[in-house]
Amino acid sequence: MPRKLFIAGNWKMNTNAASARALAEALVEKIGSVEAVDLAVCPPFVYLSAVGEVLAASRIALGAQDVYYEDDGAFTGEVSTAMLKDVGCSYVICGHSERRHVIGETDELINRKLLKALGDGLRPILCVGELLEERRAEETLEVVRRQVQLGLEGVSGGDVDKVTIAYEPVWAIGTGVVATPEQAQEVHAMIREVLAQLYDQAIAEAMRIQYGGSVKPKNAEALLACPDVDGALVGGASLKADQFAEIVSKGLGG
Ligand code: 13P
Repeated sequence: MPRKLFIAGNWKMNTNAASARALAEALVEKIGSVEAVDLAVCPPFVYLSAVGEVLAASRIALGAQDVYYEDDGAFTGEVSTAMLKDVGCSYVICGHSERRHVIGETDELINRKLLKALGDGLRPILCVGELLEERRAEETLEVVRRQVQLGLEGVSGGDVDKVTIAYEPVWAIGTGVVATPEQAQEVHAMIREVLAQLYDQAIAEAMRIQYGGSVKPKNAEALLACPDVDGALVGGASLKADQFAEIVSKGLGG
């Protein structure tokens, strides 16, 4: 069965109460009834409820940008899986490059978060990707392989299909320097090979691997046409309803 494209918007630390709601309303109007592509947006924690209310009657799912692995208690500033489900999240991003490289999250911490999210019925989006110096040193495949293996440690073959992998080369994030379709395809194919080694071919074939890093309306079509690119995780362009909708329309073949 062909994989259904999955396009998600990561709003990062952007918007305010009014603009988050307005962006969600515009998205519902433009792409809220799209069925052929799975869609999600990941607003900041504090606007999840408000955005969730706007999205409720649409086909756009709600996701969070992070989660903690404990149920509750003295973890100041953290947010639990139960809280995310409470406000209507079905997805959660785990191990985004900014959490790895700005906040300092390790593969072990990311794995704990992913396992907790999966165990509690959320669908994790596991982000992986190499730094520019790692690409220059020809370490890309090794780095990404390690991040996929460590991120998925302890995830059973029965559960792993609920995980989306997002390949986001760090040098392409927020820089306007997008990976070429050939570069994206090469790493996506390798990730699928790793999944086949960790699980089996059928599972690897069924799993979705998004590309992220400077995805814009003008480059989305060529990226989404790659055989192993099954969608996109969009940052900057997801903050503009027109641009995000246009990226989705490229995914629909338009
Ligand atoms: P940009 O699309 O702004 O490069 O961000 C990509 C990203 O990090 C999505 O998670």
